[in-house]
Amino acid sequence: MDKLLEANELIKRYSQGNVISRAVLTAVDNVSFYIKPAEIFTLAGESGCGKTTTAKMILGFEDITDGELYHNGKLQSPHEKAWLTEGVQAIFQDPFSTFNPMRRVDSYFHETVQNFKLAKTKKDTIDWIDQKLRLVGLTYHDVAGKYPSEFSGGQLQRISIARALLTDPQLIIADEPVSMVDASLRMSIVNLFKKLRDELGVSILYITHDLATAYYVSDRIAIMFRGKIVEMGTVEQVLMNPRHPYSKLLRDSIPQADPKLRWSDTVTLAELEHEEYMRQGCRFAGRCPLVMDVCKTVVPPDIAIDDVLVKCHLYTEEAEA
Ligand SMILES: Nc1ncnc2c1ncn2[C@@H]1O[C@H](COP(=O)(O)OP(=O)(O)OP(=O)(O)O)[C@@H](O)[C@H]1O
Ligand SMILES: [Mg+2]
Repeated sequence: MDKLLEANELIKRYSQGNVISRAVLTAVDNVSFYIKPAEIFTLAGESGCGKTTTAKMILGFEDITDGELYHNGKLQSPHEKAWLTEGVQAIFQDPFSTFNPMRRVDSYFHETVQNFKLAKTKKDTIDWIDQKLRLVGLTYHDVAGKYPSEFSGGQLQRISIARALLTDPQLIIADEPVSMVDASLRMSIVNLFKKLRDELGVSILYITHDLATAYYVSDRIAIMFRGKIVEMGTVEQVLMNPRHPYSKLLRDSIPQADPKLRWSDTVTLAELEHEEYMRQGCRFAGRCPLVMDVCKTVVPPDIAIDDVLVKCHLYTEEAEA
């Protein structure tokens, strides 16, 4: 099977605290997954579970503590900037912080075309930019000479997608791309991802809290909890028939307008987060409705059931049978 991207036992450790009290937090802990060409793969989970850290390692924005990343079977070397060398592009949460308010939006496009030597003449440059903007429902004429403040958040997010497309990437990493976009426009953005997958064969690593859009757009999904993937499989298997108690809890929690609020509305979350990261055994044990003694001391193994990976002691016997 072709793998566009493969992460193998990826680990990121951060040291936190000050000189007096130091702690090492394993923000991404032995994470393995792959993304196929023309596939939308989602990483979902609550705030602080390690989604962005995983994305940053893939992009080469953060050094990898341990483990390997392969692009088209080729090992990513340390400090390599995958966004430069491997056709990986990124789209972030806040389109307004992507663009400098004092700079004309089209200048970013011209700059990328120049840096990557994508066109020779002025006309070819404009044609190239226009072609990418048309993929997101805009034209060169719509953006030429305008500043970021002249666009809505949704338009600006489309523009950042077009900008990511300039270099004909194979993989686009979209980190919470719709969480700051009006709810009414979210579907139009995620629809774009499907279109890019189907028409251009682009793969998307979609990072989100929002299981509704994840269900709608993803081919496969991995649910992360405190640095670990606890369940992974096709989106139908994982979201329609979740096996891990955490996946069930996530799916059954009522979606709210602002997903950020849902997970960070208590002051105690930071403490809880730290405690959970440091926990021996299963990190979800303290919140799990089905917790058993073994969960408190032994890290559950990765168990494969019907092509789904589940990291939970509830299925140990099933796996042995
Ligand atoms: N530079 C850093 N130094 C120390 N700790 C960090 C650093 N960056 C992230 N962390 C910690 O790593 C953990 C994972 O953070 P990360 O940003 O990857 O989570 P996330 O899943 O993207 O969360 P969110 O949904 O809020 O964006 C958190 O506990 C965070 O505090
Ligand atoms: Mg994040």
